[in-house]
Amino acid sequence: MESTRKQLIDLLEKEKGYVSGQQLSDSLNISRTAVWKHMNELKKDGYQIEAVRKKGYKILSSPDKISGNTLQWGLETKWLGQKLIHFDQVESTQEIGHQLASQGKPHGTVVIADAQGKGRGRMARNWHSPKGKGIWMSILLRPDLPPMRAPQLTLLAATVLAKMVREKTNLHPQIKWPNDLLIDHKKVSGILTEMQAEHDQIQYVVLGIGMNVNQQLNEIPQDIRHKASSLKIESGQEWDIQQTIQSILRLFENTYDSYVEQGFEQVKKEWEHFGYRIGEEVTISTMRREWQATLIGIEPDGALRARDKDGNEEKLYSAEIHW
Ligand code: BTN
Repeated sequence: MESTRKQLIDLLEKEKGYVSGQQLSDSLNISRTAVWKHMNELKKDGYQIEAVRKKGYKILSSPDKISGNTLQWGLETKWLGQKLIHFDQVESTQEIGHQLASQGKPHGTVVIADAQGKGRGRMARNWHSPKGKGIWMSILLRPDLPPMRAPQLTLLAATVLAKMVREKTNLHPQIKWPNDLLIDHKKVSGILTEMQAEHDQIQYVVLGIGMNVNQQLNEIPQDIRHKASSLKIESGQEWDIQQTIQSILRLFENTYDSYVEQGFEQVKKEWEHFGYRIGEEVTISTMRREWQATLIGIEPDGALRARDKDGNEEKLYSAEIHW
């Protein structure tokens, strides 16, 4: 059903002009009545469709309101988001992602919500996800990888978000280890990766992306206003959430495909290019000591590498860094 509708939209989009009901019914191998029913569903989604006798159908405009259909229209991916589920409101797209994984949904399934009631952040924090103001999305991945490589997927996702911002603005996005996207030192996006693994194989990963897009400053919760921001605040312009999602999915698929083919090296390079305070000296505290070190880069297991003034290098997993 869903994919027929996507094919229908693709056909109408490709033609630009009118496409007859017969042509659609032949191409999609469905009845004329089924075509008509799909058209009505699209209208409910907010598409403006013109139907002219003897000519056929034409899409006049696509809706502002996000839906699975509008998201798929213009989505330039091969596998990512080909199954895409959109909700107006959920508790957390992560939960839905896990449910879909246990139902056997395929690699590349995407869940998006306009709002989340119980958005989850890292370290059991809440993630504020107000309606229509940001991207609240979870991607189901079934990589053929050992669990120890899962952190690489999170690092990869962070580079994708940074590349998207770089592509669309002249801002300088940075990634704060391990995976916070910062613009001008403030967090605009975070990633939560949850994995199910058995023995030495990942069963699936639900990779959640939260991105503050169109909030104004007074819409950012007061307690985090000093350290959080949105794309709109930083760029001074309103963003098209739908197009932004499509760009993220396109870049994600390209980056992921290269990673599967060529390994982690390119992701590491890109991550380090965007890495916040990489090459700079910071104060680090662990349970045992507090020390000054220069941040050097990341490791294939996701650790942060730092070098102290005597040249000793250390891999950090959960140290407190005084950014
Ligand atoms: C972080 O703490 O930085 C990670 C935030 C991740 C938030 C996203 S929003 C979509 C997905 N659903 C959730 O409940 N959390 C993630």
